Amino acid sequence: MDAKPIDAIKREKFKVFENRAYLNSCSQGALADEVRAAYELYLDQLEEFGSLWETWVGIQEDVRGKIARVFSTQSDQVAVTTSASAAVNGVASCFDFRNGPSKVITTSLEFPTIGQIWHAQECNGAEVVHVPADPDNRLSAERIAAAIDEDTAIVSVTHVCYRNGAMNDIKAIVEAAHAKGVPVLVDAYQSTGAVPIDFEDLGADFLVGGVLKYMLSSPGVGFALVNNARTSEFIPTSTGWFAARDIFAMDINAFDPAKDARRFEAGTPSVPSLYAAAAGLEFLLDVGVENAWGVSSRLHDQLRAGINEMGGTCATPEGDGEHGPMLAIATTDEYALVNAMATDNVVVSSRDGNVRVSPHFYNSSEDIEKALASLSKNKHLLAT
Ligand SMILES: Cc1ncc(COP(=O)(O)O)c(C=O)c1O
Repeated sequence: MDAKPIDAIKREKFKVFENRAYLNSCSQGALADEVRAAYELYLDQLEEFGSLWETWVGIQEDVRGKIARVFSTQSDQVAVTTSASAAVNGVASCFDFRNGPSKVITTSLEFPTIGQIWHAQECNGAEVVHVPADPDNRLSAERIAAAIDEDTAIVSVTHVCYRNGAMNDIKAIVEAAHAKGVPVLVDAYQSTGAVPIDFEDLGADFLVGGVLKYMLSSPGVGFALVNNARTSEFIPTSTGWFAARDIFAMDINAFDPAKDARRFEAGTPSVPSLYAAAAGLEFLLDVGVENAWGVSSRLHDQLRAGINEMGGTCATPEGDGEHGPMLAIATTDEYALVNAMATDNVVVSSRDGNVRVSPHFYNSSEDIEKALASLSKNKHLLAT
């Protein structure tokens, strides 16, 4: 992929690189000066003005618009939530599993919150079916399609697996589900801001994520993209006054939710996090997700080649369209390896026996070389 390398001035805005090869964006994005300044602005304004509700609502609308731009969609298809989990709970609360289709088809590649939220719906009559991935972490759209039947209420599938970096073919899954009239919810947290996604083109009914990782921002802001045309009959019962059609109607006697995606919101947003999100999203939009993906793909390949050369094993599938930015490397002791790499000032994380190395546009080839040098030094902790 043709990638414009990030310029040195932009990288200097991420102070963590002064001392570390930070390669953990799958967990938390690096902090840019602009994002720090945004948090400070929130506090400065509080000190100066006391309360600023109109400004805060304006920032929420700014964040909504910026999220829409990242996914090439319109603002009225974006609900700004406090986490990805809150967004999924909103969607889950739309279903009447006892009086309609009861099955939730999901996969073995999901983040725990997805499984837990759907299983919580068992008390409302849901039946949760987990479609397993192959031992090489690939999961074919055909296998998901085969699990969908006339009693299926929704397909809930991750785009990129948080444990091993495998990417599912969402378009094929959406096509199969829609052919049977079943809606699809995509958990895109591990690709959001890292991999270009056009929401309309993807075709999903719902897509959830958050701004903490590759969107460079803060805990406290998640989102649901909602295809308004396909989902108007989905009305969440998990709700709150920010989901009302007219927030300032202050009506205690009725439930009158917004017609657009805002109906998936709830209470007062995490205002400090919105300041950070506006700044982080601005930075990301300025770089461009296409560019970011170009850089991280190149670094991912460099890392994979180095691991192969030292005889290690990658848990992440290799083909085009089969992985996100993160490379998961099999270990014999994930915690020992993460700690050993930390002593070499290389920041990574681990899940499920794998060390996760997750480059973003601000990383350089030198960061990958440092990671490989540390991995080579600790080769005895790699699974072969
Ligand atoms: C793939 C994926 N889904 C969901 C979540 C949970 O997001 P939240 O804590 O905002 O609910 C995470 C968090 O790491 C994730 O990686």
